[in-house]
Amino acid sequence: MKILITGGAGFIGSHLIQRLVTQRHEPVVLDNLSTGHKENVPNGIEFHVEDCRNVKALKNASKGCEFVYHLASTVGVEKVLGNPRECIENIIESTHAALSLGIPGMDFSTSEVYGKNTKILTEDSELVYSSKARWSYAASKLIGEWLVKSEGWKTVRLFNIVGPKQNLGYVFSNFVNRAANNETITVYGTGDQVRTFTDVRDAVNIFDTLRSVDFDVVNVGGTHTTTVKELANTVIGTLNSNSNVVSVPYSKAYAKGFEDVFEDCLVRIPDLTRLHALVGAYKYTPLENTIRDTAAV
Ligand SMILES: NC(=O)c1ccc[n+]([C@@H]2O[C@H](COP(=O)([O-])OP(=O)(O)OC[C@H]3O[C@@H](n4cnc5c(N)ncnc54)[C@H](O)[C@@H]3O)[C@@H](O)[C@H]2O)c1
Repeated sequence: MKILITGGAGFIGSHLIQRLVTQRHEPVVLDNLSTGHKENVPNGIEFHVEDCRNVKALKNASKGCEFVYHLASTVGVEKVLGNPRECIENIIESTHAALSLGIPGMDFSTSEVYGKNTKILTEDSELVYSSKARWSYAASKLIGEWLVKSEGWKTVRLFNIVGPKQNLGYVFSNFVNRAANNETITVYGTGDQVRTFTDVRDAVNIFDTLRSVDFDVVNVGGTHTTTVKELANTVIGTLNSNSNVVSVPYSKAYAKGFEDVFEDCLVRIPDLTRLHALVGAYKYTPLENTIRDTAAV
């Protein structure tokens, strides 16, 4: 099957291309390379270096495609807070453009949509925001969800997908890179934030399966919870690193005074009952393997 991947030159997209190729599908990539890299798209894959909001270019890229994985989005706290208007417009307009193709598809939303809710998060959990600008990404992704729902698309809400080739601006990739180089690891806030980390290769296998089952919205995350502090120690132990860990308050986390617009969510744990009913019991890659493979790249 010919399948369009918007944002396919990014971290998740690069792994999704590989998965689809091994399943004998024909991925077509459209990406404006704002955070993606052309090296993430192997030779021989049809690649359109275009903006997803350019409907003419998108239509051209989608010729013959029977499904769309819509990954294109502004991603990362610095980018979101650095230019909130561009982030909001990019997410909503790209999703609107992708929907206009009239092809079935899957939208990539985020666990951020749950906001500050610290309960175990089912797809029907309450969404809890404050007026801090940090939530503009979540709110835009949520509008994207509602847009795609109206056209019968599926939505996946991702909880920290990690692994080889991820940009170093994220906690997991940053810790692995620093530990691999025996550099100090900096934990922002108390380090008691609870998260799950899912190997990107597990995630793309799941996205492949989810293409052919019926649902509207589902969490995709891991079953193993860890605090950020524990993650730092697991990374150091797994890589036999000499790194030490220092804690720094959030006010020091970002340049340009982002501390006034940023706030963290202390606990973010997915309920995966719906996911496992859709894809069956999934055997996740152990975190230590993901750490070793990420360090090896
Ligand atoms: N990695 C995670 O843990 C995570 C968590 C929650 C949600 N997501 C979502 O998954 C998707 C992929 O994220 P990722 O981690 O691979 O990030 P990424 O930055 O590596 O990938 C995003 C890609 O979209 C491209 N892009 C952005 N705007 C575009 C536009 N207007 N037109 C064309 N291309 C555009 C970028 O160049 C990049 O290649 C995003 O929608 C993101 O919001 C990821």
